[in-house]
Amino acid sequence: MRVREISDHVFHRGFDRPVAVSAHGCTITTADGREFLDGAGGAIACSIGHGRGEVVSAMAAQASAVAYVHASQFDVNSVARMARQVAALAPVDDARVFPVSGGSEANETALKLARAFHIANGAPDRHIVLAREGSYHGNSRGALDVSDRSSLREGYEPWLGQTVRVPRVNPYRDARTGAEHALELDRIIRQTGVDRVAAFIAEPISGATLGAVSPPDDYWPAIAQVCREHGVLLILDEVMTGFGRTGRWFAADHWGIRPDMITAGKGASGGYWPLGLCIAAGRLYDVVHTVGTFNHGFTWSHHPVGAAVAEATIAVIEREGLVEASRTLGDSGLAWLRTELGDHPNVGEIRGRGLLMAVELVADRASAAPFDRRERVAERIIEAAFDRRLTAYPCTSAVDGNVGDAVLLGPPLCVATDELHTMVERLADAVRSVLPT
Ligand SMILES: Cc1ncc(COP(=O)(O)O)c(C=O)c1O
Repeated sequence: MRVREISDHVFHRGFDRPVAVSAHGCTITTADGREFLDGAGGAIACSIGHGRGEVVSAMAAQASAVAYVHASQFDVNSVARMARQVAALAPVDDARVFPVSGGSEANETALKLARAFHIANGAPDRHIVLAREGSYHGNSRGALDVSDRSSLREGYEPWLGQTVRVPRVNPYRDARTGAEHALELDRIIRQTGVDRVAAFIAEPISGATLGAVSPPDDYWPAIAQVCREHGVLLILDEVMTGFGRTGRWFAADHWGIRPDMITAGKGASGGYWPLGLCIAAGRLYDVVHTVGTFNHGFTWSHHPVGAAVAEATIAVIEREGLVEASRTLGDSGLAWLRTELGDHPNVGEIRGRGLLMAVELVADRASAAPFDRRERVAERIIEAAFDRRLTAYPCTSAVDGNVGDAVLLGPPLCVATDELHTMVERLADAVRSVLPT
């Protein structure tokens, strides 16, 4: 039977996609025998590469032992072991780990926990959440409301609108220092009402909305200080950046900050299981439990098999030194991208940290003016890369969450040096084909 016929009932997310039949390391093979290099690691999710037998064995062993029990009824050893492993790595004090099924759920969990904490702590008016312009925190309703990407919010606006916005951070387009941003955050908190603000959620390094943008070095320490002073919980969304992606276990480690919560997903289970993690400071857990329990959960939260998968995935990252590899390979990748594309008149900036790299495309390099979005520059480059058997990740809102084109590379952290070089060459070729000089 033809693939087209057997997939007639799939609610597809694209059209005319080739059928993947096997995947190993950084290579995905399709039914027609083509081999693609996975430069995007799916949605920048594959941390340890495809086809890892030990993860599959861990999954099978846990599924054979206890595939599923509900977290309100039983504890499971795989969950306890994984939580201990994550708590030892995450820069969160006395961490408590709430495992869920993905990044959006992890952020919903963090936002609800912030609210539950303030109620238990005797500050029931604290309910307002601050989030940045040009951010992405997920596609479920609460996570979408804190996100600021117009293409995803469009049409759902009547359901959204409770978030108070804080300016985006992008040194390429905005010279403000971290201290200036912190002053602005302080002003916004005071204006909103200190006793009404529950939390500030942000990506420590902006992922797919602005495209691998790091803030100035003084930004995070100053922002964390303002949050602390006002009793506003700081939630760092490390769904994309966590577990080694940017060359440290967590992006927060670049600046030595310890937020109240970190959310994670993607790389924690590397694509082998749909997993998200809300990693909360022990003090939040303790306060919430002084008045009861955290009234929140899902059928699949604390999943025994998901925990076993994360445990095995993180063990591979540790054993193979993939965090360090991400750092050094990322430096090489950026250097090669600059060699290939640094002089291209439509390349505005090449940036990133570790194996989270971006090329921003602009209509005019001198003014950094973006292309008209109707030109679909990022999408066309992704298509051209796909024609060259490379997956890359589109970023269609790199200026401000509305317009702007960038393409992201975020391959598995186990990528070989020559594979990464080939990925850069194919991406550069794709850029030149769409934007000839
Ligand atoms: C920073 C960030 N937060 C949250 C999410 C949402 O995660 P998920 O798609 O697993 O719900 C993503 C996904 O791309 C992300 O990059």
